[in-house]
Amino acid sequence: MQVGLTFNLKPVPAPDLIRGQEKGFREGLPPDWDVEWDTEETIESVRSALSTKHEVIMIEADENSCEKLKSSQPDIVFNIAEGKDGPNRESYIPVLMEMLNIPYTGSDPMTLSLCLDKGRAKEILSFYKISTPKFQIVSSPSEEIRLKKFPLMVKPLHEGSSKGVKNDAVVFTTDHIKKKIEEITTVYHQPVLVEEYLNGREFTVALMGNDGDTRVLPIVEIKFDSLPQHINPIYSYEAKWIWDRSDRPLEIFQCPADIHDELKAEIEEIALKAYKSLRCRDWCRIDIRLDSKGSPYILELNPLPGILPRPEDNSCFPKAAMTAGMSYNEMILSVLNIALKRYGI
Ligand SMILES: Nc1ncnc2c1ncn2[C@@H]1O[C@H](COP(=O)(O)OP(=O)(O)OP(=O)(O)O)[C@@H](O)[C@H]1O
Ligand SMILES: [Mg+2]
Repeated sequence: MQVGLTFNLKPVPAPDLIRGQEKGFREGLPPDWDVEWDTEETIESVRSALSTKHEVIMIEADENSCEKLKSSQPDIVFNIAEGKDGPNRESYIPVLMEMLNIPYTGSDPMTLSLCLDKGRAKEILSFYKISTPKFQIVSSPSEEIRLKKFPLMVKPLHEGSSKGVKNDAVVFTTDHIKKKIEEITTVYHQPVLVEEYLNGREFTVALMGNDGDTRVLPIVEIKFDSLPQHINPIYSYEAKWIWDRSDRPLEIFQCPADIHDELKAEIEEIALKAYKSLRCRDWCRIDIRLDSKGSPYILELNPLPGILPRPEDNSCFPKAAMTAGMSYNEMILSVLNIALKRYGI
């Protein structure tokens, strides 16, 4: 079978661009501008996994991808392209596939855009009475904040990989919240999601499959006690990209999570409900946090989950798949086969 692989390669940073430092970043771009998109290593690992069974056609998701897809006509596309910019960036490739009538892995454009807009996703979750922290979307520091109980969580409306979610995203005062709203609107050029802060344990849940055949992989717990002392217990930009490095990995994951059966069942149930309510397809990773009473809430859904190949890179979906006994190659081929089955191919 001919499988297209659509991807966005992370640009190589300029030498003066040192992650975590506020100086030297490209003009007009936030300091964490490059945390999305995949490295050559990740793209090559996916290509290599697919090539164990199929002929792979590489298609960079740029302005020329429509022509490339039209001329190569793959039987199916394995899509990991996160898109370049804007709230609909993850939908660019799926929209083209639908126009060209080419089958592809993963969720459709509507689900990808809805999940990237955390506010829209939370509105749908709320409609289905699936717990998610109370929230408000604001576009200016002058807007009144209706959520009165501090601490609150402040994050960009449509980012991923903890872009714009630094340690100071947990706010305790009105002054601080205004400062964060100002920062996010000017640096990230988008509205701000202000949320009730949940202080319980955090989990992330990888799911694979469709309809009645969706499988929940072993639950990953994010262990905040592995982070430096005196910081906020959140899986922040610093936690993902500065303190945890492949040459010095943190013991930040516990998988399977050490939880009793009742909580495991509750987490699996809410994850499956969220997956279904947003009409996710083939695979997704869902972030969940407990409130102070121990009840699970959906933070957000990642229908295009990160899949860094090396265990020391601490990537949640591959971690869950490995714990379920899958190799990296088996994980990629399973997603492809789930999509093929969905199309009846
Ligand atoms: N309402 C909240 N209460 C408590 N912690 C939160 C809340 N929202 C976010 N966090 C913390 O911030 C982290 C990053 O937030 P979130 O998952 O929304 O960002 P993201 O950039 O979409 O992440 P990803 O890397 O999964 O794409 C979460 O993993 C969690 O630790
Ligand atoms: Mg997240």
